[in-house]
Amino acid sequence: MNASEQPVVSDPTTSTDRHALRGTLVDVVDLPGGDGPSLRHVEDGVLVVEGGEIRAVGDAATLLPTLGDIPVHDHRGRLLLPGFIDAHLHYPQTEMIGAFGEQLLSWLSRYTFPTEARFVDPEHAAAIAKRFLDELLRNGTTTAVVLGSVHRSSAEAIFEAAAARGLRLVAGQVMMDRHAPDELLDTPQSSYDDGRALIERWHERPGTRLSYAVTPRFAATSSPAQLEAAARLLQEHPGVFMHTHWAENRDEIAWVKELYPQSASYLRVYHDHGLLRRRSVLAHGVHPAPGDLELLAETGATVAFCPTSNLFLGSGLFDLPGARRAGVHVGLGTDVGAGTSFSMLQTMAEAYKVGQLRRSLPGAGDVAPLSVAQALYSATLGSARGLGLDAHIGSLEVGKEADVIVLDPGATPLLELRMGRAETVEETLFALMILGDDRAVEATYVHGRRWRPG
Ligand code: GUN
Ligand code: ZN
Repeated sequence: MNASEQPVVSDPTTSTDRHALRGTLVDVVDLPGGDGPSLRHVEDGVLVVEGGEIRAVGDAATLLPTLGDIPVHDHRGRLLLPGFIDAHLHYPQTEMIGAFGEQLLSWLSRYTFPTEARFVDPEHAAAIAKRFLDELLRNGTTTAVVLGSVHRSSAEAIFEAAAARGLRLVAGQVMMDRHAPDELLDTPQSSYDDGRALIERWHERPGTRLSYAVTPRFAATSSPAQLEAAARLLQEHPGVFMHTHWAENRDEIAWVKELYPQSASYLRVYHDHGLLRRRSVLAHGVHPAPGDLELLAETGATVAFCPTSNLFLGSGLFDLPGARRAGVHVGLGTDVGAGTSFSMLQTMAEAYKVGQLRRSLPGAGDVAPLSVAQALYSATLGSARGLGLDAHIGSLEVGKEADVIVLDPGATPLLELRMGRAETVEETLFALMILGDDRAVEATYVHGRRWRPG
């Protein structure tokens, strides 16, 4: 059976049952008269869900009496948030998270490439795809921007598994035609052909929430001809995403400079090949060259800030306030398996600590610490805006998809003790972000339905 003959997955993405979720509602939105995105909360709130969408949001005292006898899932004492968005990670690297001792380029050749080589086997790809998506959901991540391996079977497996769970997912097959082991190399033509077939089969497939990302791994592993093939795919399919790595590590940057001497910066390699636009997602950007942030802002591309990965591989400290000031869209990514946690709570905590370290650098000036509202914005609505998905996800607003998570502020003995001292919702959320992880995610609703493992 070839790919196009595989059975069409059933459509579990929508639920027509009208039901309600009750708890403390928290999201980050632009409040009228406010100064940028701000935290909003309704202490005893209700979300009405039907057909997988949020149909009403409000105060329980006002809304509940209007609802008749629809089922109400009672999460009082818990926080209901929009599902997290992970703007960058690698599903084939799930099994090699936490690999010792290397920085980017040696980490790729020592650990990453051998692990990704196993994805030539469709059964292995299917097994890891399931484990990976279940791990995302356990952590409250309901949308992710995901790299596969260079094998077509890897992309097929992740799309199949996401469709079966009704998940919103942006994913793509890695394009890589040089500077990797032979068994991991494609060609400009084969990567173009695979990309086109995958776009036709999966991109915005009816009954799913799936999107395709054209995914050249990074400039060092793609020839100019392959970057041109990637650009052709994007021109021929305007709604698809572009997903790559950029300016993560100083040795990588020097190498790309040697490989593409005609381009004025690493970012301009992508720009010169027609790859920067809205819906382009570039992971890292730890070391931008002069003018790069302005170019990102002009093109509307998004940077995925991946703090646990940048710390783990010793790549450097991303300047989030600087990127924001330049008007660049920034999302937050775990970058598993260089990133050390699937938890977006932990990722926000590390983003905060990266900010603290930057504040102590000579000449840092008077930079404010990362507020919990800013951190949550990067993990929800801010990312959604960068990805052009904010009409669908990112906040608890009427008309959006009901991707909702339930956080338990007292999930562990230490959290419970700490919450005794938290006086505001900001304090509660900040402590959750610093101390919390998958243990704090009590439930995950995917398109209105409660996800259960297994
Ligand atoms: N740059 C190119 N490939 C990778 C990868 O797999 N992980 C990270 N962190 N950076 C990369
Ligand atoms: Zn990555």
